[in-house]
Amino acid sequence: MDIRIFNTFEEASRFAADRVCERILAKPNLVLGLATGETPLQLYRELVERFGRGDVDFSKVTTFNLDEYLGLPPDHPQSYRYFMDRNLISHINIPRERTHVLDGMTRDAEKTCREYEAAIAEAGGIDIQILGIGGSGHIAFNEPGSTFDSRTRVVDLSEDTIRANSDGRFFKDPAEVPRQALSMGLGTIMEAKEILLLASGKRKANAIRTSLEGLPTPDVPASILQRHRAAHLFIDGAAAFRLTQTTSDHR
Ligand code: F6R
Repeated sequence: MDIRIFNTFEEASRFAADRVCERILAKPNLVLGLATGETPLQLYRELVERFGRGDVDFSKVTTFNLDEYLGLPPDHPQSYRYFMDRNLISHINIPRERTHVLDGMTRDAEKTCREYEAAIAEAGGIDIQILGIGGSGHIAFNEPGSTFDSRTRVVDLSEDTIRANSDGRFFKDPAEVPRQALSMGLGTIMEAKEILLLASGKRKANAIRTSLEGLPTPDVPASILQRHRAAHLFIDGAAAFRLTQTTSDHR
């Protein structure tokens, strides 16, 4: 894995934005996998800025988001569809019909998940997948214990994730957080041709260490990325501080 440690998270996000823009330049109809949460916000701001400067054209790009809360309508301020619209989609020239987020209000979750996988395949697969990482090492909503071959499905959120998402940054109270979500599986994510995982801050340091050091295990879902041919980690010093010398030599 390519691990790059930056002095600030802003630099890491800028580096990731450069990578995404380079890829769009090389392939205007790029298929981009998107994440939500706090981690990719600076990256999205960078992309919007670059679009504003005329440096990048999203008109032929297609996007697929990793996950969505089950039971939240698209106009709910905490839904991931709303998040994407507010932080990226409404600020760039991507046709809305090419932006895909799992339908949190579906009445047939299995069918929705099956159709999502089919739509990804039909688009030619994901070229670059953006990822954040949870404190437990989760990626998308693949909590510890998720199998490495898991596909898009309904998942139960762990108490840890519910707590992390109700610390005031997103939901204010754990009771408001949906208990289930629709999420791409680890198998789905691993099929992306390239993966960019971003992480910032001390609260991610343990997850970063356990994901990179030791053998891949479903107990730490992100550890599967060790098996990916083109997985890149762009992290700041705080997220890297628990890495042993051997791992951080990649710097
Ligand atoms: C979001 C997602 C999650 C987050 C993770 C980190 O679409 O799939 O796995 O990436 O929970 O969240 P933040 O970035 O808020 O720390």
